[in-house]
Amino acid sequence: MTAIVPEESAAAFLRELRLFHLNYKFGLDEILTKINILREEMTFRDGANPIEHVNSRIKTIDSLRDKAARIGCPLELDAIAEQIRDIAGVRIVCSFVADVYRVLEMLTSQPDVTVRQVKDYIAHPKANGYRSLHAIVEIPVFLSDTTRAVPIEVQIRTVAMDFWASVEHKIYYKYAKDVPAELVEELSAAAGVAHDLDNRMAELHRTVHG
Ligand code: GTP
Ligand code: MG
Repeated sequence: MTAIVPEESAAAFLRELRLFHLNYKFGLDEILTKINILREEMTFRDGANPIEHVNSRIKTIDSLRDKAARIGCPLELDAIAEQIRDIAGVRIVCSFVADVYRVLEMLTSQPDVTVRQVKDYIAHPKANGYRSLHAIVEIPVFLSDTTRAVPIEVQIRTVAMDFWASVEHKIYYKYAKDVPAELVEELSAAAGVAHDLDNRMAELHRTVHG
């Protein structure tokens, strides 16, 4: 008999964890709708859309458990919600640096979007050359009997920054995070080239469109 209680409570916890995880999917659905509305409206109004593409992802329940274990977070919903802010993530890739800031401003000025954190790795690139604008925003999700504020990690960057980050990410994993010094240097130089390209494209755009 005694074994039944822990098993039941494990099943109950798993059910709660699944529901908790589902809320992040709902939050992502909400923010993706917002982004799509902005894209469509701007395309209609200006005939140009500053957003090149959008990707989103949710951590699986397994990788959520792994991350909790890795950072020493107790496997409790409140602690997970507090300590793991990147369960749901969306990446918005824009044509120009100015668009990156514009898109963040358009999203965060909406009354139901609360900004929890902004990290500007464009103004302050990481030592390896990584550039991107990061934000954690909270979005309300309306459930059958309650409302949940769901945090979403938003990364906004240009095509050039995205290209660099995707190559760097592959190299980082290939070398199991122990990247040879020459490659680190080469990546840093490539980040400079990507930055130059962003500046030149912006200049070209200004020349053509004023
Ligand atoms: P800290 O590392 O403590 O600053 O916080 P964090 O990891 O929670 O947030 P950060 O803003 O540094 O990074 C969040 C996400 O941004 C990562 O999961 C990656 O997707 C991306 N990112 C951050 N730094 C790099 C980088 O150097 N290279 C690449 N390719 N992606 C990065
Ligand atoms: Mg990090």
